[in-house]
Amino acid sequence: MELNTIEWKKDTLVLLDQTKLPNDIVYVEVQTVEKVWDAIHTMIVRGAPAIGVTAAYGVYVAIQHFEGSVTAAKEEVQKQVQYLATSRPTAVNLFWALERMEQKALQIDTNDLEMFQDILLQEAIAIHTEDIEINRSIGEHLLTLLEDGQGVLTHCNAGALATTKYGTATSPFYLAKERGMSFKVFADETRPRFQGAMLTSFELFNAGIDVTLITDNMAATVMAQGKVQGVIVGCDRVAANGDVANKIGTLGVAILAKYYNIPFYVATPTPTIDLHCPTGADIPIEERSVDEVLKPTGQYVAPADVKVYNPSFDVTPAALITAIVTEKGIIEHPTEEKVRAIFN
Ligand code: MRU
Repeated sequence: MELNTIEWKKDTLVLLDQTKLPNDIVYVEVQTVEKVWDAIHTMIVRGAPAIGVTAAYGVYVAIQHFEGSVTAAKEEVQKQVQYLATSRPTAVNLFWALERMEQKALQIDTNDLEMFQDILLQEAIAIHTEDIEINRSIGEHLLTLLEDGQGVLTHCNAGALATTKYGTATSPFYLAKERGMSFKVFADETRPRFQGAMLTSFELFNAGIDVTLITDNMAATVMAQGKVQGVIVGCDRVAANGDVANKIGTLGVAILAKYYNIPFYVATPTPTIDLHCPTGADIPIEERSVDEVLKPTGQYVAPADVKVYNPSFDVTPAALITAIVTEKGIIEHPTEEKVRAIFN
């Protein structure tokens, strides 16, 4: 069963509702820009690349039924880009995709509204389809760093559900499957939203990939027991100096990997690299509702009024990263110079 995270279907944006997985497979039609904002904010769609692709379609959705001049439509694009940019703060793919759509809109030289709208739709489709190639290429690079049969730990969901296909961190597992190789994947459950349990274990299991679900506090044990020879995570933003923001808990895994001398790889499409962000300390970290911690599956697991701190991401310093693996190549032991060089 192949699931489509994001689909442009008969003039409508269709999203797989990831808040309902793994129990229910529900697709939602998202027909207004407000609904696009809401889908990103409530994590119906989540994962940095998927957020970027959805936002790109969101810009088109915002002017899909617009009536007026092209000049007025351009102003509308700029307004809705500002609005969509407030949906989530950490994944830079959101801002990257919005910026690309806005620049495209401003460059279009026509008075024909229909043509203007169509060019923007084509740009969103291009952002969507490019993501597949990017992930495949990241997977190819990652495969050069791994050996068939190894145990690999991953955190959160940087899988097909977070992207268009293959995922970033999971792409070598899918490619290995295509080639008759296999890895033993350990998926952290990833509290408080359980993306590792609800999404990663679900999609890898469905794909016939060897996956073992563990709770977050078991990562040290599987490393100490020699079950894991590599860690691969995705990321939401790479700062210019190579520091990386990813799902809360990633930093702890990186520290453990360092202690146990296990390579720690970050799978990163280049749109996730933010050269305007000098260091990890400059990356905005989303804080989400206390209810995610208090009632992770709907029932209270703590006193309703207890103080709760719920940062959704953390920053792993470059010094803990063995390599950042992009579609353009591998940045070993990242430094600012090496991160900048990948764009040349
Ligand atoms: O809060 P989420 O589920 O959007 O967080 C997702 C992650 O942290 C992923 O690891 C990251 O976005 C990379 S997805 C290829």
